[in-house]
Amino acid sequence: MDATTDSRPAEAAADAAAGLPADFLWGVATSAYQIEGAHEEDGRTPSIWDTFCRVPGAVVGGENGDTACDHYHRMPDDVALIAGLGVDAYRFSVSWPRVQPGGRGPANARGLAFYDRLVDELLAKDVLPWITLYHWDLPQELEDAGGWPARDTAHRFADFAELVMDGLGDRVRHWTTLNEPWCSAMLGYEQGVHAPGRKDFPEAIRAVHHLLLGHGLAAQRLRAAAPEPIQLGITLNMGTAYPASDRAADRDAARRADGLGARIYLDPLLRGRYPADVVADLALAGAELPVQDGDLELIAEPLDLLGVNYYSSHVFSGTPEHGEPEAAPTGEPFSRIVPQQLPVTAMGWDIIPRGLTDLLVRLGRDYPGLPLYITENGAAFDDTAAPDGTVEDADRTAYLADHIRAVAAARTAGADVRGYFAWSLMDNFEWAYGYDKRFGLVRVDYDTQRRTPKRSALWFSDTVRRHREQRGG
Ligand code: FCB
Repeated sequence: MDATTDSRPAEAAADAAAGLPADFLWGVATSAYQIEGAHEEDGRTPSIWDTFCRVPGAVVGGENGDTACDHYHRMPDDVALIAGLGVDAYRFSVSWPRVQPGGRGPANARGLAFYDRLVDELLAKDVLPWITLYHWDLPQELEDAGGWPARDTAHRFADFAELVMDGLGDRVRHWTTLNEPWCSAMLGYEQGVHAPGRKDFPEAIRAVHHLLLGHGLAAQRLRAAAPEPIQLGITLNMGTAYPASDRAADRDAARRADGLGARIYLDPLLRGRYPADVVADLALAGAELPVQDGDLELIAEPLDLLGVNYYSSHVFSGTPEHGEPEAAPTGEPFSRIVPQQLPVTAMGWDIIPRGLTDLLVRLGRDYPGLPLYITENGAAFDDTAAPDGTVEDADRTAYLADHIRAVAAARTAGADVRGYFAWSLMDNFEWAYGYDKRFGLVRVDYDTQRRTPKRSALWFSDTVRRHREQRGG
């Protein structure tokens, strides 16, 4: 891949990664349901996403992941594409209902064999495999048995984790338990916009605790079953919650948003307790974390790294704008997001690279000693493809460059950030938005499944290559 014919990306490339250390890890990321397709092949059973996609109105255009990017059948070519980008690592997820259909019992050898081949293919091309065990595709049978609000699901997840370790642990060192438990719990069980589509806040809070418990149980089992020491982590999606002003009500609105968005995960994982202010906020909202004796010790199983997925940040106000009451009858204070008049992505998400710098610096300060990796960052834009499939996505390139600079700034300010994975390798099934929103560095033509690197892919590749040259690798 040669981007040297265009001087603009090369200049930006040289600049964006400046200040990052020699051993900084560069990667691209995907997840199973978003790219694999082959939904009924080799013994795979439905996940909550297969079911949710069939609910009328749940997904834009009534789309689903039945075929997606057909990665299941095109995996060797896709790995060649990844290797061609010159990145160090590939973050992918393992489909639970492919490896353990129905979510119970032994491994499905044919399903596991796919990941076995994937890992071998990556290693043969010198690309580090970085596994995520749960990227939202809960086996439907486990949802039918109660889903994440049910405690047993945490135990089922630990069993699944061990099956994957037994199959791949001889070659894989980097293990992430969960991707974005906030999304699983809140989008899935409170807002109902993700699978399984429930709308029940107390149930969502039960899901939070059982996701964390599942993480802790899995973490123990993974370490115990690993043939060699592993790098174990969890990936959280976070932004910076800014108060709209110095007023007490605005600062409190930001505190509450940060509590439910970030600290409800960070504190039990890294400090062994839920934050008291969050527990009090939950009580006002009629919700309770179903903690049993010993749970917090399990959840606080030591981590080797923290994965951070960053897309945007918000400004919060606790000051009513249109005469709303300052508190609900339960005592829950008023809160709103203040629009910022900033450039947005095609998702409507504000572009705030500074929020990433502030987040990383804060994580380093409040939870010291933990290496951080950006496990997702990227943007959807309304790409226009030329007849040959190429896309001149200067907007995406600028987004990536600005955020990589934001990472470098955080390092300068003392945050121990060690790697960056672009979301995503290629356009894919963007959950409730279907195929409409394109996050890929590589364009996918869904009619032909042809992959064409966008300008941003060439730029990213060039950034990595130049950084490696500087570090003499
Ligand atoms: C994250 C998800 C990922 C993708 C990006 C855009 O929340 O982890 O699967 O959908 O958002």
